[in-house]
Amino acid sequence: MIIAIDGPAASGKGTLARRVAVHFGLRHLDTGALYRAVARDTLAQGGDLTSASIAAIAAARLDAATLRDPGLRTTGLGEAASVVARHPEVRAVLIEYQRNFARADPGAVIDGRDIGTVICPDADAKLFVTATPEERAHRRFLELKERDSGIEEEAVLADIRSRDDRDRNRAVAPLVQAEDAALLDTTNLAIDAAFRAAIDLIEAAMGRAGRAG
Ligand code: CDP
Repeated sequence: MIIAIDGPAASGKGTLARRVAVHFGLRHLDTGALYRAVARDTLAQGGDLTSASIAAIAAARLDAATLRDPGLRTTGLGEAASVVARHPEVRAVLIEYQRNFARADPGAVIDGRDIGTVICPDADAKLFVTATPEERAHRRFLELKERDSGIEEEAVLADIRSRDDRDRNRAVAPLVQAEDAALLDTTNLAIDAAFRAAIDLIEAAMGRAGRAG
């Protein structure tokens, strides 16, 4: 079973994906960590994020054991990730890892930007998780404030808007709701309510797939 969860920055898709994976006994892959790690490694080698060839080499050499590095979650790397994520060469290198992860038993919940559209177009269930930019900025601000008391909510909102813009308007694998994805707007939902709504939408999608098959 493969469940694809896409959505913009700080929409809550990561937290939902982790809980959905536990609920169904599936593995979980946060694909944002792949792009963040490529950005981290490109910068560590003194490379230019806008160079497709340098970033693609970092992608090819990516060590999956470093994907759990908590240092990946900084705002700077989120922004840097969206720069390397624009390169088709980088995305092409990362496709196989993501598809292999999805195919391995017992199945997976994969979250990102292009999972339902490009990586796993045949996923058993697809969710597109969203919330207003202001709500997403507020959530990300509360999360980041724990580590950096000097952080300002307006700066977080500006980062979210610039990332939304870059992710939605890039030429390859832009952030867009798949035609067959269910929309989950979490603006007014606390995490437990969002989780229950996600499970209902996934079960409904699987029920439809079961009837069709
Ligand atoms: O956690 P947050 O939503 O802030 O970001 P993330 O999921 O860690 O993704 C960081 C950046 O990686 C995004 O802004 C995208 O530019 C890129 N990304 C992508 O292009 N495709 C994916 N499947 C996942 C992330």
